Amino acid sequence: MIGVDTDATLVEELAGGHCRFSEAGLPELVSRLAGTAAFQATTEYAALAAADVVIVTVGTPIRDQGVLMDLQLRGACEELSRHLRPGQLLIFKSTVPAGMTRELVLPLLERSGLTCGTDFGLAFCPERLSEGNALRELRSFPIVVGGWCDESADAAAEFWRRALGVEIIRCASLETAEMVKLADNWWIDHNIAMANELAMVCATVGVDVLDVIAAANSIKKGSGSVNILLPSVGVGGSCLTKDPWMVWRSAGERGLALRTIPAAREVNDGMPRYTFGLIVEELAKLGRAPEQAKVAVLGLAFKNDTGDLRATPTQPVIAALREAGAEVTLHDPLVDEDEAEKTFGLRPCASVEEAVRDADCLAVLAWHRPFRDLDLTWLRRQVAPSCAVIDGRAYYPRETIARLRELGFAYRGIGR
Ligand SMILES: NC(=O)c1ccc[n+]([C@@H]2O[C@H](COP(=O)([O-])OP(=O)(O)OC[C@H]3O[C@@H](n4cnc5c(N)ncnc54)[C@H](O)[C@@H]3O)[C@@H](O)[C@H]2O)c1
Repeated sequence: MIGVDTDATLVEELAGGHCRFSEAGLPELVSRLAGTAAFQATTEYAALAAADVVIVTVGTPIRDQGVLMDLQLRGACEELSRHLRPGQLLIFKSTVPAGMTRELVLPLLERSGLTCGTDFGLAFCPERLSEGNALRELRSFPIVVGGWCDESADAAAEFWRRALGVEIIRCASLETAEMVKLADNWWIDHNIAMANELAMVCATVGVDVLDVIAAANSIKKGSGSVNILLPSVGVGGSCLTKDPWMVWRSAGERGLALRTIPAAREVNDGMPRYTFGLIVEELAKLGRAPEQAKVAVLGLAFKNDTGDLRATPTQPVIAALREAGAEVTLHDPLVDEDEAEKTFGLRPCASVEEAVRDADCLAVLAWHRPFRDLDLTWLRRQVAPSCAVIDGRAYYPRETIARLRELGFAYRGIGR
């Protein structure tokens, strides 16, 4: 396998066996395979001449609520058009508005002078793995295949069947496959928005939202069950914050105003502010105004068990706390410290111990595996005499909450 990327530093790291991503099993794999025939990394597109199948996964960010910034995609297609050779199959995986593969990608590829369907194959197979679980899901998630023509779809389906042995879902067209990805993320974002609002209403009634969700999810509906996802400090990362907007924008361009997408986005974007409010309320109960308080934030990434800070909802919480005058310390064992400093304007502490010393509040905004080993009795001794724990994404079980309270912590979660 050959990996081509325009980021020379990334290529150098990968070629040297170093993996900068916090992804279960990946660093070991990169370190074992780098430099062998099984995995070469390069910035040279010419290396693709040796490939029978080319998979494109460049970034597809948006601006202005859903306008695709297609620079990376264009760049990749233009380079590919210079290096395409007859017989190759091109599989695009980057998330795009429906129609992009046919309208943008195909004409750029055909600048090569080669003809799609005759000289090369073209398929869209959306990337649906989630960060943190990617390798596990790779071996189990069905792959969605949409081809420019039947032969392209057949070739892509056969490739994935042989490479991964997973179920293949054949779609009628490139556009169907493109829309599948958007539908997945629209559903997830919408579902989380409902979970977040459910959490907020549960808080007003004084019930634990996790109890409600567990019981509510017990009935069958359609081909599965009711499946309310989990509320949290907010939705971040590079997918859920952009993909629903892509659908919204392309519907708008066709004269259709979608209303659920802006509503869900607004709810989810409001969760950091809500979490900030919980911290301020809990501090007030301890007799402290934000400007008299020290808040230690544990977990900075946009979700548990990743080091990814892209669009992390922890950023607006931390910004609001600092604006309110609180002393804020940060710690996350999975994020890159330089990246964190860029994102938060504050360098994270190297250890939990350093971050939590004399804190009036522990804001647990991402709950990574290494945190599970924390000894709560030890933690109690490090913090201020009165200290609140705000659970933004840890989902502590009842026993842990009881233990925290027994030790003298105040506890508050999202909808708990
Ligand atoms: N990150 C995820 O978990 C995830 C999940 C599902 C789908 N996706 C989708 O997959 C795509 C990639 O996401 P990502 O998070 O990996 O993006 P990313 O921005 O982290 O990575 C994109 C990579 O493409 C490289 N690149 C840019 N232009 C290039 C070019 N012309 N030639 C070669 N390499 C080039 C960049 O240097 C970078 O390493 C996006 O469309 C995203 O929506 C991502």
